[in-house]
Amino acid sequence: MPWTEISLLAVLLSAVISIVFYTLKTGISPMPSSGKARREIMGYLEQHYGDKQGGVLVDLGSGWGHLIIPLARRFPQHQVVGYELSVLPWLFCLAVKYLLRLDNLSLHRKNFLRQTLPENSILLSFLHPKGMKKLASHLELQSCRELISVFFALPNVQAEQVMRLRDLYQTPVYIYPLQK
Ligand SMILES: C[S@@+](CC[C@H](N)C(=O)[O-])C[C@H]1O[C@@H](n2cnc3c(N)ncnc32)[C@H](O)[C@@H]1O
Repeated sequence: MPWTEISLLAVLLSAVISIVFYTLKTGISPMPSSGKARREIMGYLEQHYGDKQGGVLVDLGSGWGHLIIPLARRFPQHQVVGYELSVLPWLFCLAVKYLLRLDNLSLHRKNFLRQTLPENSILLSFLHPKGMKKLASHLELQSCRELISVFFALPNVQAEQVMRLRDLYQTPVYIYPLQK
């Protein structure tokens, strides 16, 4: 086998191993939220924060950037922050940020459960049940404004609003006020 093919194979294999490793570590793959979920979130943010200035929107697990990139473009008046542990999705998203010159977007390759989240920020998540449980404990020590969660609810917390997507599963999008 020629060296170029071997090198290509090695790169592909490393990429797959990296994605599988972080999927096992975080408990979820970097699968994007659905287009319908993203449109619903955009509409909600537009309605509630579209005419406000200087807010902070945080994607807890920004993946390949399917949500955070359109957010940064749609809300240039807000700071948009992403946390992502998985190296490849984070790098991909970083490349798109620089290509599109999104100065209001910052991307951290960090575990959001170990960070002090920006005060008064609006949090967005598409995680998994165990991740939501850990997030609930972490949020007790934070002073964020609101959480918008696709599909997964915070355990033992009543959502203020549940938006249902018009899809096969009537996917819920939960809204939680977080101000104490
Ligand atoms: C299902 S994807 C959601 C991607 C994006 N938010 C969207 O809506 O398209 C969830 C992402 O969260 C990341 N993740 C899960 N737990 C995390 C943690 N504690 N810190 C940073 N990233 C995390 C995973 O690596 C994965 O890429």
